Amino acid sequence: MNKSRSEHLEYILCEKGFTPASTPDEAEVVIFNTCAVREHAMDKAVSIVNSWASRRGKDAMPLLVIFGCLSQHMKEAMKKKIPGIDVMAGTHNLEDIPRLVFDRIEEKKGQFAIPEGETGPLLEKGYRRKHGITALLPITYGCDNYCSYCIVPYTTGRQRSKITAQVLQEIENIIDEGFREIILLGQNVNSYGKDLPGDQDFETLLTDIAKMVDGKNIWIRFLTSHPKDMRKHIVEIVRDHSCICPYFHFPLQAGSDRILSLMNRGYDQHRYLEMADLIRREIPYAGIGTDIIVGYPSETEADFLETLHVVKKVAFDVAYTFMYSPRPGTQAEKMEDDVLPAEKKERLTRINQLVREVRMERLRNLMGRECVALVEREKEGLVGKTASNLKVDISGTNSLREGEWRKVRFISLRGSRVIAQVIDET
Ligand code: 5AD
Ligand code: SF4
Repeated sequence: MNKSRSEHLEYILCEKGFTPASTPDEAEVVIFNTCAVREHAMDKAVSIVNSWASRRGKDAMPLLVIFGCLSQHMKEAMKKKIPGIDVMAGTHNLEDIPRLVFDRIEEKKGQFAIPEGETGPLLEKGYRRKHGITALLPITYGCDNYCSYCIVPYTTGRQRSKITAQVLQEIENIIDEGFREIILLGQNVNSYGKDLPGDQDFETLLTDIAKMVDGKNIWIRFLTSHPKDMRKHIVEIVRDHSCICPYFHFPLQAGSDRILSLMNRGYDQHRYLEMADLIRREIPYAGIGTDIIVGYPSETEADFLETLHVVKKVAFDVAYTFMYSPRPGTQAEKMEDDVLPAEKKERLTRINQLVREVRMERLRNLMGRECVALVEREKEGLVGKTASNLKVDISGTNSLREGEWRKVRFISLRGSRVIAQVIDET
């Protein structure tokens, strides 16, 4: 979501006559798009911006702009932590940044201009995407769920959905630009449309998109699927349309019913497993990814074992695991952060170990399978990505071109790397 926000900001800046510098060192204005979701992300941003501020010479150039979630929700703290900043702009005043920068250049003191409003306008002007394979396309902004540990509703406001006609128009433009894959983004795509008049929901959106892109050589992905709003019909639509990729980012967060309730997640372990099971039954080769927090306030060893139990049962294809950190203004911040750091670390190590084991087991079961992979460029060269979001090593083939689909067979594992062989004739 943040990456897409940067693409939107770049679009707005270019419209107002700014041009992207080829390296940060050549820039006259440097804008830091910050993340506030975990303490670690905040600390990292603060230290990077401060190191830029301290490197500046007498001319105090480049101009430093801090933008995004940190400046939206924590502007007072940021003023103190980053005294050298020129302009601070929150997520809600992204479109004001060109003016704030010009004001600052003219010494009009445009800094610290954060409007207090609940939500900003729905950002729908455009995105300046780098040419490539994958285009990000937000379908909603903001979040209404208020999970007790999470800062996102405070940094991005209430959920605002784009109307379906606009999403379809943007998809058409993205296809014309030559992208091969579109990721629909929302904090909770399953609640798409709840804030719109009429009966637009995620099912109708997916069906309309599938109708439009069918036969156009494009893959559609989406994230994130909130378990509390997961529905059978969504899984069926994914199952029935080959242009919609069967990968679900399906954050568990915790396995214990007590912790899930404290987290205000709106589901219990039984319901989560029911939905994960439904996905596995309807689409056996679907990928399921998840996010997990360990060490939420009051989490006991018994609670943590419940999380491990779910990891084993679902056998996630990927899991992003985090140690809990209190975020300002959230409900959980009021609770005592009583799981000791050493305990959090130990739980993180244990869960990561189990995640690796269940992942390896799933990968072993895939050997011999054939499917289609999209060729994309990674740091290490060209790789294949399956519809279920599995990266495969196809480096044994000479004739690979970025952006093409090739039929592959999984032949072996090298550590956790899947080696695949291209088996088509192209
Ligand atoms: N502490 C640790 N992890 C968090 N996340 C969100 N808030 C916190 C927090 N306070 C994690 C959740 C979420 C992911 C984006 O970040 O797992 O899904
Ligand atoms: Fe945060 Fe919960 Fe919204 Fe996800 S659904 S962004 S965890 S409040």
